[in-house]
Amino acid sequence: MSFNIAIDGPAGAGKSTIAKRVSKELGFIYVDTGAMYRAIAVYMLENGVDIHDDASVKAACGQIRITLGYEDGEQQVYLNERNVTGLLRTEEVSRTASVTSANPAVRETLLDLQREMAAKENVLMDGRDIGTQVLPNAQLKIYLTASVQTRAKRRYLEEQEKGSGCTYEEIRRDIEERDARDMSRKIAPLKKAEDAILLDSSEMTIDEVVEEIKKHYREVCQ
Ligand code: DC
Repeated sequence: MSFNIAIDGPAGAGKSTIAKRVSKELGFIYVDTGAMYRAIAVYMLENGVDIHDDASVKAACGQIRITLGYEDGEQQVYLNERNVTGLLRTEEVSRTASVTSANPAVRETLLDLQREMAAKENVLMDGRDIGTQVLPNAQLKIYLTASVQTRAKRRYLEEQEKGSGCTYEEIRRDIEERDARDMSRKIAPLKKAEDAILLDSSEMTIDEVVEEIKKHYREVCQ
């Protein structure tokens, strides 16, 4: 039987950085489910789909096939066989994914694929609903969070490195809006699974968070 680790938490909590490190050190396959939702958002943007109209989004989902591959250990996302990994990390895609991921047809499109991967392999999967909906039987569940200020500051520094002109205030507002959407949607909202371990990374280094998760993993394996 495969071993599954679920890491959920809000935007900017450091999930993907931590998840990449932990999965590499434990020899697990890392599945970034946010990237899958982002690939669907790319389809909606490229095809001018009205993302606020449920019927249009549902019809579009019928045209979408998402698959994952790995190159040098890095996850690649394919949208109808085209590698769109390089298109996923823009603010426009983030905002669109936050709206479209609340649509039941979008979630249905990805659920089976996510579960199939976890059934076959030892995966560490991160997202918003992994511990609550996708893999309720995961052997280890982590809910990784950090204060809004910490998350906005981290994202601001990343944006500055990319040379973007976003202000700290804009980023903080964007994070707050996305938190509200992710946590309040009717279907698969972001919330801590009852049996998830809560980790607040506001005052922790990446190394400390990685070590903490590995410690919990060792405890579960004993
Ligand atoms: O983690 P991320 O920022 O790459 O996620 C992009 C969007 O997808 C975000 O608004 C939340 C949504 N998402 C989701 O609804 N369920 C998941 N399992 C992963 C992401």
